[in-house]
Amino acid sequence: MAAVLDLVDVTVRRGDSVLLDRVSWTVEEDERWVVLGPNGAGKTTLLQIASAQLFPTQGSVHVLEERLGSVDVFELRPRIGLTSAALAERIPRHETVHDVVVSAAYGVLGRWREMYDDLDHDRAESLLRELGAKHLAPRTFGTLSEGERKRVQIARALMSDPELLLLDEPAAGLDLGGREDLVSTLSMLAYDPDSPATVLVSHHVEEIPPGFTHALMLRQGRVVAAGLLDQTITEQHLSATFGMPLTVSHEDGRWAARRRTRAR
Ligand SMILES: Nc1ncnc2c1ncn2[C@@H]1O[C@H](COP(=O)(O)OP(=O)(O)O)[C@@H](O)[C@H]1O
Ligand SMILES: [Mg+2]
Repeated sequence: MAAVLDLVDVTVRRGDSVLLDRVSWTVEEDERWVVLGPNGAGKTTLLQIASAQLFPTQGSVHVLEERLGSVDVFELRPRIGLTSAALAERIPRHETVHDVVVSAAYGVLGRWREMYDDLDHDRAESLLRELGAKHLAPRTFGTLSEGERKRVQIARALMSDPELLLLDEPAAGLDLGGREDLVSTLSMLAYDPDSPATVLVSHHVEEIPPGFTHALMLRQGRVVAAGLLDQTITEQHLSATFGMPLTVSHEDGRWAARRRTRAR
């Protein structure tokens, strides 16, 4: 099976700071990864590399079997679906939800002079339906709740039928109900064999959707652990990643963590 992401000894430096420190990581086509780590661990930097927005200072990166540095990133980027707070900021608030999604077919933000065909409109509607957001299609993006915006952004990211889906903290800012709705939606996508390889960035093990297969844990730009979820999300790894003694539980496909309260 072909690797959709292959990083070997990737280091990213900015001035004196080391944002990523010799990270090696492979993601295969049928895998769904969660990337966990505290604020500042380098998660967003890692997704910038994976989405061909940023080149490493050192190391080699293959995205969809193309080597960064020797491929035209403008041909590569449409093959990758990305959602992040920074991208959400750039969505015009007056744009209708339907147009936010359909305009991704041409990789633009804001509907302008492009001519969309019926297939594009049908695909946008069916993605909105799949994400439980069909009723929002005529609304403007600015009038949506935070949870509704997250769904629309994921529909937009899927519009170009990407081979790799990257979600940077999609649950940030959601209330409990919003988070649970999003976890269910992401779980449905994870179990769908037609879904692209997926990488979900989060701070919280509670946000790992059932159906996700692997975890990468980062602290201060370094990989603490990586591999199958069950083997990676251990008390030892989680405590090392977040820098405090944590206990972890796994029940009904969901994970939870809290500070360890007494010596064991
Ligand atoms: N352009 C930059 N110059 C220097 N430091 C940066 C720059 N961008 C990010 N950083 C720092 O790199 C670290 C990793 O950032 P980031 O990848 O955004 O972490 P995360 O997404 O895990 O919170 C943080 O400490 C951040 O302050
Ligand atoms: Mg981040």
